[in-house]
Amino acid sequence: MSEILKLSKALLCDRDGERPGDVYVQDGKILYVGTEAHPFDRELDLKGLTLLPAFIDLHTHLRDPGLTYKEDMESGMRAALKGGYAHVCAMANTKPVIETPALVEANLQRARGLRLCRLTQAAAAGLGLKDETPTDRQALSRVTPMLSNDGQTIFSDEFMRALLLDSAKYGFLISTHCQPERMTVARDLALLPETHGRLHIGHISHRDTLRQIREAKARGLRFSCEVMPHHLLGHDLDYKVNPPIRSAADNAALLEGCRDGSIDCLSTDHAPHSPEDKQKGMAGISNIEYAFGIFLRLFRENGISLCRLSEMASCTPARILGRKAGLLRAGYDADLVAVDINAVSYLDPDAMISRSHNTPFGGEKLLGRIQYTIVEGEIRYA
Ligand code: DOR
Repeated sequence: MSEILKLSKALLCDRDGERPGDVYVQDGKILYVGTEAHPFDRELDLKGLTLLPAFIDLHTHLRDPGLTYKEDMESGMRAALKGGYAHVCAMANTKPVIETPALVEANLQRARGLRLCRLTQAAAAGLGLKDETPTDRQALSRVTPMLSNDGQTIFSDEFMRALLLDSAKYGFLISTHCQPERMTVARDLALLPETHGRLHIGHISHRDTLRQIREAKARGLRFSCEVMPHHLLGHDLDYKVNPPIRSAADNAALLEGCRDGSIDCLSTDHAPHSPEDKQKGMAGISNIEYAFGIFLRLFRENGISLCRLSEMASCTPARILGRKAGLLRAGYDADLVAVDINAVSYLDPDAMISRSHNTPFGGEKLLGRIQYTIVEGEIRYA
């Protein structure tokens, strides 16, 4: 029989609540959760820590292949693990663009070899990330659950309609990049009733977008959406990111959307760039290793529970990806994160382990410190 690892004495927290208890792990799965004695081979004492399902990022840029001077799969995944992420969904805007099953599979194979994070490798919806020639979506859907032209907006209504139809036919999720945001989101939501597409609205940033999302959900439309740390925290800031940093009123509205369930997921849009590329005007923020510190701080400051944070960072992304993960339950994947929930620190960009340190948030207060990230039952960050 393979070893049973007992994770003991932590406070347990997931979407369903906080409670004391031990978590027993075997063969990459949670074997048992509770307070009753259970046999085990090895014990990890987590006294004073909070144990949560590890985070799942539906929106990451790993820059691999071709742009590895910014980040590569290994450096990005090590940063993700430091941030408490066990699973990242890598976007397709690499060099070459990920637009064939062979390119998807090459990255998946490399990820398996690294044994760091789990990888979902998104593929482009259009050749060259353009809204002109569709990629072979039927073939791609056999190797990835996510298609995205992220970084580029799909302006063509016809292209978007066909993409939504294909997503329903082949079962993949479409993660969108919407700029201008309100116009594109309105168009995509309007196409849902006729197409029954599987839409995930990427990185929402504007309070009017949230209003559209609320109205659409109230009308019974089925789709999901995500928000990033910088759109919850940053305002009136001259730092290039797409979509842009907006106002304090937008931050407040988006936090309210997290609280009331209108926004489904917390993602990162981790977008590493070299200093030279930032100088040239490239958009993006490197953030996956401190995203949780911002989420926790903002949720605390606004009276939003850790259970809700866990739902948005783990449980809902897992459901969207069709994984049995994101809850502390027997039979679920043993992807876990142990956090010192009261630790306070201040972001030091020089101390970041991502290859790129592009962030406007140096000196920002962060709450919580990741002590262990466990993936498939293995401690991969300590
Ligand atoms: O700021 C951004 N940077 N937004 C995106 O959607 C793409 C990303 C990148 O790839 O750098």
